Amino acid sequence: MDIHELEQRTQQALDEVQSAPDAAAVEALRVHYLGRNGLLPQWMGLLKEAADKRAMGQALNRFKTGVLAAVNARKDALAAEAKAAQAGAFDLSLPGRWTRRGRLHPITQLIDRTSAIFRRMGFTVADGPDIETEHYNFDALNTPADHAARDTQDTFYLPGGNLLRTQTSAVQARWMEAHKPPVRIVCPGRCYRRDTTDATHSANFHQIEGLYVDRRVSLADLKSDMDHFARELMGSGVKSRFRAHFFPFTEPSVEVDFSCHMCGGKGCRVCKGSGWIEIMGAGMVDPNVFAAAGYEPDTVTGYAFGMGLERLAMILFGIDDIRRLYENDARYLAQF
Ligand code: DAH
Repeated sequence: MDIHELEQRTQQALDEVQSAPDAAAVEALRVHYLGRNGLLPQWMGLLKEAADKRAMGQALNRFKTGVLAAVNARKDALAAEAKAAQAGAFDLSLPGRWTRRGRLHPITQLIDRTSAIFRRMGFTVADGPDIETEHYNFDALNTPADHAARDTQDTFYLPGGNLLRTQTSAVQARWMEAHKPPVRIVCPGRCYRRDTTDATHSANFHQIEGLYVDRRVSLADLKSDMDHFARELMGSGVKSRFRAHFFPFTEPSVEVDFSCHMCGGKGCRVCKGSGWIEIMGAGMVDPNVFAAAGYEPDTVTGYAFGMGLERLAMILFGIDDIRRLYENDARYLAQF
């Protein structure tokens, strides 16, 4: 037997010991290889005939210590297994296996959060098509034919006279046409504008729209509901304020600011020192909008509002560039 063959036998012996099914099998292997009448003593007898006695001696030694160590390790492992089996099939102290979990996109999270707040206030979540007609996106919303928003600069027009909705306000007109008052809906969804993409603009973005119509709904209802929404969304210390503005579909129209949730209104980087953050457009539904929907403008009043969800996500999550929301870098999005 030469050294090469001995090394093969060593490896074979180690494999056998490591896969021995029980303590008796391990002991049998130990006797077979290392016992008084085993293979090792026989091989030692051959040592004096070896060509390189020194190398052969060392190889025999490696065989002996290797097999002995494997025998002891296998015996210990089998003993530990037996003990664990006695204690019960499961080792409850073992740490669990970590599985990677998916997360909702920040915009999806905000759709869910804002919808949930309004649902608790009695609103129903409504839906409408992304591909709209000029009628629902503009005409029914009292938007004059020469209004700047209709410009091809702003609107994606489709062949056949349709367009991609520029605002979720289109759902107001559809819903009122199909439902009698009272109406209390919110509508989250995608909107499209021919904007050049930069840090704060995207040609495709999301809004959530709100509409509340009943007898004697007033601007005071809008104010108190916006205050409630502000607290629910941003924290108990946050309030709203109105600034006069213009929208074709509301009269009067306002822009709604929330006091800065970061600094409490003292002025910081997030609110650019003003203490207030612009959140949405709103107002009292224009009688012309009611008339276009077939409602009696003399018997009902209502408020409406609409806000951009990317903007809200950037404010709430501290995202500095709208494009981060659409690059689909899962490592980035998983933070929120
Ligand atoms: N549609 C408006 C926009 O895209 C937002 C808006 C303002 C919606 C006032 C409303 C509203 O319902 O009453 O800028």
